[in-house]
Amino acid sequence: MRLLVLGADGQLGRELSELLSKGEAGPFTLPGAFIGADVRLVDIDTLDIVSAGATRAYFEEFAPDLVINCAAYTNVDGCETNRDTAFLANAVGARSVAEASCAVGAQLVHISTDYVFPGTGNTPYAEWDATGPTSVYGKSKLLGESYAREACSRTYIIRTAWLYGRHGKNFVKTIIRVAKEKGKLTVVNDQLGNPTNALDLAYHILKIALCGRYGVYHVTGNGVCSWYEFALEIIRLADIDCEVVPCRTEDYASPAKRPAFSALGHMALSASVGDEMRPWKEALEDFILSGGHEA
Ligand SMILES: NC(=O)c1ccc[n+]([C@@H]2O[C@H](COP(=O)([O-])OP(=O)(O)OC[C@H]3O[C@@H](n4cnc5c(N)ncnc54)[C@H](OP(=O)(O)O)[C@@H]3O)[C@@H](O)[C@H]2O)c1
Repeated sequence: MRLLVLGADGQLGRELSELLSKGEAGPFTLPGAFIGADVRLVDIDTLDIVSAGATRAYFEEFAPDLVINCAAYTNVDGCETNRDTAFLANAVGARSVAEASCAVGAQLVHISTDYVFPGTGNTPYAEWDATGPTSVYGKSKLLGESYAREACSRTYIIRTAWLYGRHGKNFVKTIIRVAKEKGKLTVVNDQLGNPTNALDLAYHILKIALCGRYGVYHVTGNGVCSWYEFALEIIRLADIDCEVVPCRTEDYASPAKRPAFSALGHMALSASVGDEMRPWKEALEDFILSGGHEA
């Protein structure tokens, strides 16, 4: 198998890379089909996916069987002011990758987000529920989903949420750093979702990529909480003496409007390859107690 990972220097890309190179990580073992695979790990310094021509040329040279596109512009607030960058990376880039995948006969895994949903409900979104993004990030990712599907029929769209991993910036690392510096934190308690360990996601991406059933999948940590509850658990597990105060979204000005409830249901995952996503507290405990936040 020739496998191409795009956005390989990002937090999900690096988790995927390590699972592929080490063969096991945490409770997960690399599916046998990937053992001995010819893996190329690529980021923007090697290939800017916004360029359809460069992307096509790169794909023709490597001729991948499978492409996992983790490349994206993921700064949710930054997308509000850098709209062009958001649409170029998250939609136009997604289309370049899907067109090139189709041209070389590769299957494509395209990663998307819970922020494609409006967040007005109170039960986890199913894969077929109506979308309705509230932010530029969500809109650009939703357009990327449809471009990917239109350009490459052998596409798996995998939506995830509230991602944290050992590499790069994320909520877990920020909470630990600020808690140690300030001893007091204020965190929103009226946005609910699914914290997701990037390692759990990486493993499930590889499993889904082998199943041959294209379409939309939701892959997130199991269980729902607010950012405040997530922060409380981080502080408890990291054993930091810090006061955590709940606040409301309206008390905390941010450029992007985020969904109030964006938890995702795992129907497609359960019905295809099985849902081994750990409960979010269990995956977080493993992450913090194994020093993942210090990597
Ligand atoms: N992080 C989350 O909480 C979250 C939640 C839901 C869904 N997701 C989705 O999950 C996926 C992975 O997220 P992540 O947290 O691993 O993101 P990340 O850490 O920001 O990594 C994304 C990578 O893509 C690269 N990239 C950006 N524009 C590119 C371009 N035009 N061409 C090639 N590479 C480009 C970035 O390079 P630079 O750093 O140099 O820009 C970065 O290395 C994304 O699709 C994201 O939308 C993430």
